Amino acid sequence: MTLRPKPAPQPNIRRITRKDKPALIKILRSTPEFKPFEVAVAEELINASLDDPCSSEYYILVADVLGVPAGYICYGPTPVTLGTWDIYWEAVARECQGQGVGRALMAAALKEIKETGGRLAVIETSGIPSYEKTRRYYAGLGFETVARIPDFYAPGDDQLILVKRL
Ligand SMILES: CC(C)(COP(=O)(O)OP(=O)(O)OC[C@H]1O[C@@H](n2cnc3c(N)ncnc32)[C@H](O)[C@@H]1OP(=O)(O)O)[C@@H](O)C(=O)NCCC(=O)NCCS
Repeated sequence: MTLRPKPAPQPNIRRITRKDKPALIKILRSTPEFKPFEVAVAEELINASLDDPCSSEYYILVADVLGVPAGYICYGPTPVTLGTWDIYWEAVARECQGQGVGRALMAAALKEIKETGGRLAVIETSGIPSYEKTRRYYAGLGFETVARIPDFYAPGDDQLILVKRL
């Protein structure tokens, strides 16, 4: 008899609630790619979304795996554009990475963006080596690197602009 690996449980994608915040902050804090000040900014966006879910410029979807938040994605319409949306943040708990949670979150966000009339999704990310895996992940999801601003985040830390037409 051959033993097959158990398929990973399907994530349930839903809107954020206030109860999710501690779990999401824990995920952000234990993600080595994120510096403490980045975690602080990510937390501000979570707060903005929770405090004003109806008119917030920040939309958040959470992925539950077996009833526990395993990751989230934060996105919103880019001000002064027609149909362009920013994907601000995405993070999946380390123990849940590589099981399709990130892809499911991105697919749900892009579907919602498209249904609201969005036509372009934009991601700003770093060009440093520790983001190489993340860049490959985005490339696999069909995002194309269209620009690079040298030394944007810090000397030697370029900003890459990735886009996907919807
Ligand atoms: C980037 C991240 C959100 C991806 O989420 P994930 O749940 O691990 O990714 P998935 O399992 O859904 O993978 C989706 C696809 O990307 C590929 N992929 C995932 N991680 C990858 C990597 N490190 N390198 C290359 N491809 C990768 C998978 O093979 C999969 O492709 P497939 O569907 O064709 O098999 C997650 O790894 C993460 O939180 N990383 C740290 C934080 C971060 O960099 N966030 C983004 C910047 S804000």
